[in-house]
Amino acid sequence: MDKAFVGEWAERLHTLLHGRFAAAELFCMEEVGSTNEFLKEKARDLPGEAVVLALSQTAGVGRRGHTFRTVPGEALHLSFLLRGQTSAAAPVSLTVGVAVRQALYSLCGAGFSLKWPNDVLAAGKKVCGILCETVPDGIICGIGVNLLSSPQFFEKQGLSHAVSVQMVKGSAPAAEALAAEIANVLETVLAADANTVLRLYAAHCSTLGAPVRVLGVSGEAAEGIADSITPQGELVVRTGAGRVTVRAGDVSVRGVNGYS
Ligand code: BTN
Repeated sequence: MDKAFVGEWAERLHTLLHGRFAAAELFCMEEVGSTNEFLKEKARDLPGEAVVLALSQTAGVGRRGHTFRTVPGEALHLSFLLRGQTSAAAPVSLTVGVAVRQALYSLCGAGFSLKWPNDVLAAGKKVCGILCETVPDGIICGIGVNLLSSPQFFEKQGLSHAVSVQMVKGSAPAAEALAAEIANVLETVLAADANTVLRLYAAHCSTLGAPVRVLGVSGEAAEGIADSITPQGELVVRTGAGRVTVRAGDVSVRGVNGYS
């Protein structure tokens, strides 16, 4: 991809954006270590909000210290620098999940759900991961969507629980089209009140009602039925020993009958 192509790519993205994120600083790159890390370095010097889109990442970061591996050109690597989130709002990582699911639904049709706290699933497998990180005066929200990756790629990586949009739907939207749809939906969802966002999240969360195994950082495990989401974004699980409330950073939740 040459410089002219990256310029056209940025222009196409800019044309598709409206409102809040059309006014943000826009970075489109052929390659970057990580779009989240890029924004972390830039955040202090940027006056307002920013959007970063990259064709490839060489050091993609996932939740809980994992890496996020993709093939250049086969995934969406998108990060937002958001400013001025209020404490009355719904947890931002859940809000971003709601927006990504809605954007995928708009462009690709039905069949996408949310796995608590913030994976997006298609056909019961992970199609998108979201990583939100706090910086002074802002929040960076990174979104990685597997668009075109093949079953062979996931097999080689040992990611049997992952899938791409193309594998499930037969085709996938262009990265800049999905990036713009996510940005435009995100603007609306960020402006909604916390109850609306939490209701939307719960309505599309396939974890709720499913049997789950909760694995704590120190190796302890509990099994139960995922019951509800608290206003703080925690998951309430009904176990034999009563209700357990778990926070996203502290545990990993696995479906007992699959990845949900
Ligand atoms: C996870 O599922 O563990 C979260 C994965 C988040 C990946 C995205 S890709 C864009 C942004 N840049 C990164 O380095 N990570 C996020």
